[in-house]
Amino acid sequence: MERAAGVIKQRIAAAGGQLPKVAVVLGSGLGAFADELDGPVLIPYEEIPGWPRSTAIGHAGKLVIGSCEGVPTAVLAGRAHLYEGYTAQQSVYGIRVLRMLGVESVILTNAAGGINVSYKPGDLVLISDHINLLGQNPLNGPNDESQGPRFPDMTEAYSKTFRAIAKQTARTVGLEMPEGVYVAVPGPSYETPAEIRYLRVIGADLVGMSTVPESIAASHMGMRTLGISCVTNHAAGVVDQKLNHTEVLEVGERMKDTLIELLRRLVPGVAGA
Ligand code: HPA
Repeated sequence: MERAAGVIKQRIAAAGGQLPKVAVVLGSGLGAFADELDGPVLIPYEEIPGWPRSTAIGHAGKLVIGSCEGVPTAVLAGRAHLYEGYTAQQSVYGIRVLRMLGVESVILTNAAGGINVSYKPGDLVLISDHINLLGQNPLNGPNDESQGPRFPDMTEAYSKTFRAIAKQTARTVGLEMPEGVYVAVPGPSYETPAEIRYLRVIGADLVGMSTVPESIAASHMGMRTLGISCVTNHAAGVVDQKLNHTEVLEVGERMKDTLIELLRRLVPGVAGA
């Protein structure tokens, strides 16, 4: 990880850039924000020692560091999922390296299925809390006390302050953002209708295959997190329709401009909070 941080630092220094304060992780089909930074330093994941490559369709696999409305920002276009064969520890490698570079706040975005029947495809929902059904935790194994405590608190895994800022900011782009509980499942098969009924009973509004490991690692290291789900589809069985990844990517594409505008305003908001 020190080597990875060193490589990134060198690249930023060579380009005369600044070390990032905010990190934004872009979910499936939501990669367009990476092209929005000013003075971008672009580093393909394969050029960073130890960094997991993204193999999922709809994930670019590059780190972009640049300025968003004057805030030095790191954008992760592409993430590592458990269904690709990565462990939860590997999937949070990037978050840990960025923490070493001084990142204090994280915005996690994802594509999610809407379990809550009031959500429609295309809705952007703030994650208020999560349920981890991955069967793994990125903190499994020996704890590095220099990074964080053995048993980190998770009562505010998604910062209340950031959520309040996000709601206000969303209104400035004409959006009302509801809040919801995100459940992470391992995938890669989508859920069955019976599983979705079960997930609704246990309190989930949104379902996806990411985000939870990064949020746990961020809490572990004392970073504040904002989570945004783009509802790309009704979860299985909510409507009489089959699920496919193309639909997920298409809805992401359709929401691109709104999400870009929202993130552009959110980054300075969370950086100043
Ligand atoms: N289930 C799980 N993950 C997802 C979904 C879904 O319906 N949509 C987008 N990611």
